[in-house]
Amino acid sequence: MAGFPAERQEDQALAMKESWEVVAKDIPRYSFLFFTTVLEIAPAAKQMFPFLRDSEVTPQNNPKLKAHAVKVFKMTCESAVRVWEKGEVVVKDMTLKYLGSLHRKNGVTDPHFQVLREALLRTLKEAIGDEKWSQELEAAWGEAYDQLAAAIRVEMK
Ligand code: HEM
Repeated sequence: MAGFPAERQEDQALAMKESWEVVAKDIPRYSFLFFTTVLEIAPAAKQMFPFLRDSEVTPQNNPKLKAHAVKVFKMTCESAVRVWEKGEVVVKDMTLKYLGSLHRKNGVTDPHFQVLREALLRTLKEAIGDEKWSQELEAAWGEAYDQLAAAIRVEMK
């Protein structure tokens, strides 16, 4: 994987897996934090989501938002861990082609992908805690997210 010497890659994969195991203990909580962080960084993105548009329901009480957040957060984390372990981008339950066309239809652009990246890293840092979070971990998650986002963007063209 770019950015790290080959002999460090196993360590990186292990560190990522360990951090994902911490987060996986409370997926509903961190998925919700992830999604609300996206909206905090980019409030206008609310208009993109059918279950938020014109919705008066507070995010905490919106079951569609919660279900969606879990799906996206889990997929992103599982795929990122796999990128580090195997060096390949794989998504579960749906194809990259489907994700590409879905996001194109919804008007998702490059800056949106950056927002998601920032929200992902902030959420993981919060979950892992300042003491255990490191620049290396941040770089490893960031790199893996970039590969997943790039694979989706290829299918959006
Ligand atoms: C839907 C994943 C980036 C906006 C989805 C779904 C998944 C997903 C799994 C649900 C598909 C389904 O259930 O049929 C991802 C991943 C991303 C990513 C892995 C990045 C690596 C983004 C970004 C935005 C975005 C950057 C814009 C802020 C949406 C919208 C939907 C959606 C609007 C449709 C929601 C609906 O109609 O219910 N995404 N997404 N996604 N995503 Fe993403």
